[in-house]
Amino acid sequence: MAVTMVPPFIRTFKCIFMCLFVTFALACLISFSVLQSTVEEICKCPLSEKLSPPIDSSHLLGVIVPFRDRFEELLEFAPHMVKFLAEQHVSHKIYVINQVDQYRFNRASLINIGYKIATAEGCDYIAMHDVDLLPLNPQLSYRYPTAGLFHVASPEYHPRYHYNNFAGGILIIKKEDYKRVNGMSNKYWGWGLEDDEFFVRLKEASLDISRPTNLSTGIENTFRHVHDRVWRKRDMAKCFNQKEVTRRRDRQTGLQDVEYKIRSKHQLTVDGAAVTVINAELRCNRTLTPWCLCSEEKKKETSERRQGKAR
Ligand SMILES: *[C@@H]1O[C@H](CO)[C@@H](O)[C@H](O)[C@H]1NC(C)=O
Ligand SMILES: *[C@@H]1O[C@H](CO)[C@@H](O)[C@H](O)[C@H]1NC(C)=O
Repeated sequence: MAVTMVPPFIRTFKCIFMCLFVTFALACLISFSVLQSTVEEICKCPLSEKLSPPIDSSHLLGVIVPFRDRFEELLEFAPHMVKFLAEQHVSHKIYVINQVDQYRFNRASLINIGYKIATAEGCDYIAMHDVDLLPLNPQLSYRYPTAGLFHVASPEYHPRYHYNNFAGGILIIKKEDYKRVNGMSNKYWGWGLEDDEFFVRLKEASLDISRPTNLSTGIENTFRHVHDRVWRKRDMAKCFNQKEVTRRRDRQTGLQDVEYKIRSKHQLTVDGAAVTVINAELRCNRTLTPWCLCSEEKKKETSERRQGKAR
């Protein structure tokens, strides 16, 4: 019988060895599980704190900033917006559409261009955003609007514009809704009225516009409006029949026919805030919208008046 043949010292040794092995295995198991749970705790805590609620990666916001010559405002805008949107956990890209041609400023056409670029790069909704209007109250939502549009720059809280049909400043719109109304009119060269015409487009398409209500802040502290320091006479002027035409709803032009050339594209970081700057050259059909340049007409007018006086 083999077992009884085994000398007793070997049996003792075997027993000690088994005991040691079991103890060692148990110790390993316990320390590993403790280690694992602490690792889990260490990993879980700061992550869950950082990500609650998690960044909404199901939507991507394109912030479209029509732009020209306002460099110092951009330096303030970019870091402010990146921080503001990060606090709301909104995934976003910022597009500064810089008009580099010789024509008067065309905010609407620049937004049409921004829309095309942003949606091509995966954005499923956009914020049409003035560079000189900074949101201050964190209650102002830049999240994907579940129903209709969201007019962030509500006339109730805007520092300057208080009429009910105001749709400018900051407007958040879904990709499909912007496309549905054929974007914005391309006929608005110079300042103003393009957002009023856009408001009519939205109304005609029966799109609901909601606005922030019941904010804890008022007219003075919901936004910061960086006031225009330079009076842009060239852009404020009205010439030819611009006044008559731009008072009416434009059923011809929009997103479909905006004519432009991208001269260059740059990735910029302002104090850590990433923005894409697009240098865009607009095309103007001088038969359709002669007021893309006013100065010539002004000269013509004054010379005609002089001639009239002379006659
Ligand atoms: C408006 O805000 C106040 C305090 O911030 C709150 O008590 C009230 O319920 C709010 N009303 C609505 C309609 O949300
Ligand atoms: C400019 O607009 C007019 C009037 O709509 C049109 O007949 C003409 O073909 C346009 N010119 C160009 C170069 O697109």
